[in-house]
Amino acid sequence: MTKALRRRVVNKRPDPEPCRDQDLGKFEVTVRDGAARLGKLFTRHGILETPMLLPVINPNIRTIEPREMWDKYRVNGLITNSYVTWKHEKLREPALKEGIHSLLDFPGVIVTDSGTFQSYVYGDVEVGVEEIVEFQKKIGVDIGTMLDVFGRPDMSREEIEHAVEETANRALISLNTAGEDTLLNGPVQGGLHDDLRAQAGALMGEVSGDYRGFAVHPIGGIVPLMEKQRYLELFRILLSARSTIPPNRPIHMFGCGHPILFPMCIALGADLFDSAAYALFARDNRLLTPDGTVKLGDLTEWPHTSSALFPYTPKEVREMEKDERSTLLAHHNLEVTQAELARCREAVRNGTIWQLAEQRSHANAKLREAFEWVLEQLEESDEGPVAESVLRTIASSDPVRGSAEQFSEDIDSRPHLLHLNALLAMRWRRPGSWWDGSDDKAERVVILSGAEPPWRDSALGSAISALEEEPRSIVLISTPVGLIPFTLEDVSPWCHIQCPDDLWDMVLDEAEIDAWLEDLGIADLPLDIHVCQADPEEEAGGENRSKIRDWIDRCTIVDKLSLLCGISPSDVCKLSNEMTSRRSRTDRMVNVNFGGVHCLSPRLPDGALSLTLAGAKKLHELNPKPPSTFQQGEKSSELNHPGLPRVLLMDDAIPFVGKGRNVIHGFVLGADPHLIVGQPCLVVSAKGELIAHGVANATADDMAFFDKGIAVKVRDGALK
Ligand code: GUN
Repeated sequence: MTKALRRRVVNKRPDPEPCRDQDLGKFEVTVRDGAARLGKLFTRHGILETPMLLPVINPNIRTIEPREMWDKYRVNGLITNSYVTWKHEKLREPALKEGIHSLLDFPGVIVTDSGTFQSYVYGDVEVGVEEIVEFQKKIGVDIGTMLDVFGRPDMSREEIEHAVEETANRALISLNTAGEDTLLNGPVQGGLHDDLRAQAGALMGEVSGDYRGFAVHPIGGIVPLMEKQRYLELFRILLSARSTIPPNRPIHMFGCGHPILFPMCIALGADLFDSAAYALFARDNRLLTPDGTVKLGDLTEWPHTSSALFPYTPKEVREMEKDERSTLLAHHNLEVTQAELARCREAVRNGTIWQLAEQRSHANAKLREAFEWVLEQLEESDEGPVAESVLRTIASSDPVRGSAEQFSEDIDSRPHLLHLNALLAMRWRRPGSWWDGSDDKAERVVILSGAEPPWRDSALGSAISALEEEPRSIVLISTPVGLIPFTLEDVSPWCHIQCPDDLWDMVLDEAEIDAWLEDLGIADLPLDIHVCQADPEEEAGGENRSKIRDWIDRCTIVDKLSLLCGISPSDVCKLSNEMTSRRSRTDRMVNVNFGGVHCLSPRLPDGALSLTLAGAKKLHELNPKPPSTFQQGEKSSELNHPGLPRVLLMDDAIPFVGKGRNVIHGFVLGADPHLIVGQPCLVVSAKGELIAHGVANATADDMAFFDKGIAVKVRDGALK
């Protein structure tokens, strides 16, 4: 019998493995998509795989037994209240004697809150700052919470300032009381004020106790907003706080647990959630679904079912006795919550979390309003903590994607498309020489419209004809998301947009065309709009065909190296003087040689580039000086083409990385700020020597903070 099958038969999961001592409290991010991330938080009772929800357990009323949550719903961590446990002797005594894991009969990660929420609800609590941390330590919690000061949204600015300052004042003593073994939550207050949220994030983020800083930063004071569906303010708070919270700490949304909010919160950088909604809503005969809450009383059939509800009709559940009914509904609510989080994690993994957030935004008017506000920030952010966070979200998105891009009215505002378009506007340049050998100025712009991808099948003939007719033509393709150079025809998502057929026939209006030409820096040229023929013009170009195609291929490599690798077009032009390439059976460029040496290959799924070691060496020669260290704190380069981004490696790691091992966080001394997640980079020593090349798995900002996980996925070591 396999292990998995045996587990099903006895319906039990094994207990978790404790983390290694040196990993306690560390957070590793394995997948990133803009602000969204999949992570692992290491504790003595296993690893919390984020994003995840900690169900709230009321130690007095256990609607679903914690052990059942562990066995049946794969709940790896839960949250309970240390203040409630401390206050009730019948809980305090066994907790102190046998520990909280035994009291709750839960083998996984136990997080506790401190009583701050009770002080918000009841006015005050009778416990001291050190006393409550000491208690959490004594009962053996994995992650405790310091006694923060709850900042209500209706408080004055002065009161909120006080909540932020007083919480920060209590931080060091709380961390030191927690000691070496107990991890601690450092809540970020700040009410509705962007600057105070950012200030709180910075203050709480920089406190360093005798053993460590805070392991997690919950965003506090947001429950009253969620109760009133004030989602715009909720997202604003998340963005402001995230601008200063160290990126290597998970962010927890205190009291947030409605599935409708998960996709957007995760897309904006939340890692942990907690909520009693599964039990509270069940007691109130309400069912959670990924797009809202429904009342049992209104139902004839289940709009969203679960293994808990499947055997029953709504009528049968209504007829159940109260306790039986609320337990059943709590099971359903927990199952839906877990399923929606799994769906979100999968969306982060496959690059569609933003699309999921976009879909969910249509479920509720307030959520849509909040989502539209976020889109506005993405498109025209200026200054302040919110702007800082949204710019970082765009810059940390891998601009290319290997999978289909679903069209929607909001497609233009997706962070990865904004990133790709920004790179196009900033780094694309008109060609300096043409297929006929001339190097005069461009004569015209030709826009090919009415063609669907793959454009090498539907528009290549038209592009070649236009270039034969006038060699100094800049050929663009009209897509539903704007104009792109023909040379970038296989770059995804542009070439993977899934939309109704008639959108491909639509020509952009004059103002849109002008704006795109302006962005590309070619608004000064005469314009020719050409509708592509249905049949590819197989023999377009006649005897010049192969010359024109070779020139297009060369421009493709210049444009891709410039856009995605930051190399100046004039440098690539020199390298590509002696460029040759091999094509696949589907007529795509596969190997690109400079001077007869294989230097790079277009990546077939997304159209970006893969370097070879020989290619990395050539690009390294263009920029041999080492990057600054994090301490020297280099600001973003003023240059549009600052060269292939470099990661500065510690000497200790050189022998390993030089042989081809990945670069691990903690061994990075510096990184160029223009590093792009998912795109090529060089790994160099402090002397500037090339050690390896690979693909960035984190932003430069992340590399300055993280000490666990892969920073660069190395393709090849240079010292083998
Ligand atoms: N639970 C919900 N909100 C809060 C908060 O602001 N602080 C603490 N400690 N717990 C909470």
